[in-house]
Amino acid sequence: MSSNGGRLAGKVVLITGTGGGQGRVAAQIFAREGAKVAGCDIVAENQAETERLMQAEGLEMHSTGGVDLADPEQSKAWVDAVAEHFGGIDVLYNNASLPRFAPFPLMSTEDYQFTLRNEIDVMWYPAQAVWPHLVARGGGAITHIGSLAGIIGLRDLPQSAHAATKGAIIGMTAQMAAEGSKDNIRVNCISPGVINSPPVQEILAIGAESPLLPIISKTLNGKPGEAEDIVYAALYFCSDEAKWVSGSHLIVDGGSSVLI
Ligand SMILES: NC(=O)c1ccc[n+]([C@@H]2O[C@H](COP(=O)([O-])OP(=O)(O)OC[C@H]3O[C@@H](n4cnc5c(N)ncnc54)[C@H](O)[C@@H]3O)[C@@H](O)[C@H]2O)c1
Repeated sequence: MSSNGGRLAGKVVLITGTGGGQGRVAAQIFAREGAKVAGCDIVAENQAETERLMQAEGLEMHSTGGVDLADPEQSKAWVDAVAEHFGGIDVLYNNASLPRFAPFPLMSTEDYQFTLRNEIDVMWYPAQAVWPHLVARGGGAITHIGSLAGIIGLRDLPQSAHAATKGAIIGMTAQMAAEGSKDNIRVNCISPGVINSPPVQEILAIGAESPLLPIISKTLNGKPGEAEDIVYAALYFCSDEAKWVSGSHLIVDGGSSVLI
């Protein structure tokens, strides 16, 4: 689809964590669907690579590297700069995160606090910064990325802190949707299963002992999902096609949580 038309034609969309994985693919697909995309990442060189890949395809993006979105001031500065650049904001795709993993009884306070900061604060502050811009626009959409980790337990993967944060993201979706309704702000959440992106590739590299293999074996094709499987779900939530959808939580996991 050319950038003159598409399912997001003319919409100003902020995507967090566009330096890799799902965020990079989201920037590409959303731009192809006509969105005016603004992306940022804490890792400047990865963000620059996304910028380069998009330019090579003739796609435009307002790109900012080195932004720590878990810091309220940096979040607000990025959001306000994008709003000024494009003259407003329509959508926030809250994707960025960085968890640490350890068995519950052994996790250090530092790693636990790090995970809370980089999985809850990292979504809370951009959403709070975007909110007044959506109100000023007469409404808009926020799509959070949760996780299957927020709903089910895995025997072999020590992820209690990650489960706590993603459970929080799923939980705050309904309340934010309720509070946003009077201003025509829709808030939804997608919980991915195992997706073939850089953090998962690292865990799969362990080989036959990888703790992700049991859940991957439960998917409908026995494989992890691809980034685009999540991005296409987000494309729906972020577009006007979902104008009557708010407070929803969609699990996109290849069926792994129910195909037991
Ligand atoms: N990959 C999976 O299997 C899977 C499963 C369930 C949920 N998710 C969720 O999907 C989303 C995308 O994950 P991914 O697999 O693409 O991972 P990823 O690590 O490839 O991408 C996340 C991006 O967020 C950026 N980021 C992290 N902390 C940041 C901060 N404080 N400020 C700015 N940028 C920051 C990272 O640098 C990275 O580029 C995340 O919310 C993740 O929790 C992933």
